[in-house]
Amino acid sequence: MAGGGRRALRALARSGCVRGSGPAVVSRLQDAAVVQPGFLSEDEEETLSRELEPELRRRRYEYDHWDAAIHGFRETEKSRWSAASRAILQRVQAAAFSPGQPLLSPVHVLDLEARGYVKPHVDSIKFCGATIAGLSLLSPSVMRLVHTQEPGQWLELLLEPRSLYILRGSARYDFSHEILRDEESYFGERRIPRSRRISVICRSLPEDLEPGQPPSPAC
Ligand code: OGA
Ligand code: MN
Repeated sequence: MAGGGRRALRALARSGCVRGSGPAVVSRLQDAAVVQPGFLSEDEEETLSRELEPELRRRRYEYDHWDAAIHGFRETEKSRWSAASRAILQRVQAAAFSPGQPLLSPVHVLDLEARGYVKPHVDSIKFCGATIAGLSLLSPSVMRLVHTQEPGQWLELLLEPRSLYILRGSARYDFSHEILRDEESYFGERRIPRSRRISVICRSLPEDLEPGQPPSPAC
């Protein structure tokens, strides 16, 4: 397909998964907040969730203190993956990161139970570089981005199962992100019921931690 055709298709796919407070913010963030629906095949989703399930099942869901960013979750930092999963993660790397952009080596896996949610936050700049890329498994959800200085500027990303989202640059630094709880899970007027959701999140290294530095903990 010609480049122009591919671009037009991408814009069309995006318009179904990204909405915002106005056309200016939507277009300004068009390369900074990206959703690719159907990034994974059903087989790939199954490969990842089968591999993750036994590790996750060993942990308990946490509810935690009033100030925690995430509620109703369990998580793991995973470094060893099957060959099939490594191939998937390499596709994520090629889609979301620049060649040679170093990644945090353990991949963050977050399992939110049906009533779990992620409150608005900006990932720590100490542990996480300019790019965050996440695969969503099992349940649809809505990620909301709100400008930290001008809360009237926001985006909503519809994260269907098997989609990939990418936050980079301004979307990563100038906007908080959150995963809405079931009661608030709407994409515009459209109700997006939440059930258990697993995300697999790759992050770039902060520039001052590029190779040679000791590995850093999770964001
Ligand atoms: C996080 C986060 C979003 C997701 O863990 O910092 O923002 O997709 N997670 O699970
Ligand atoms: Mn985050």
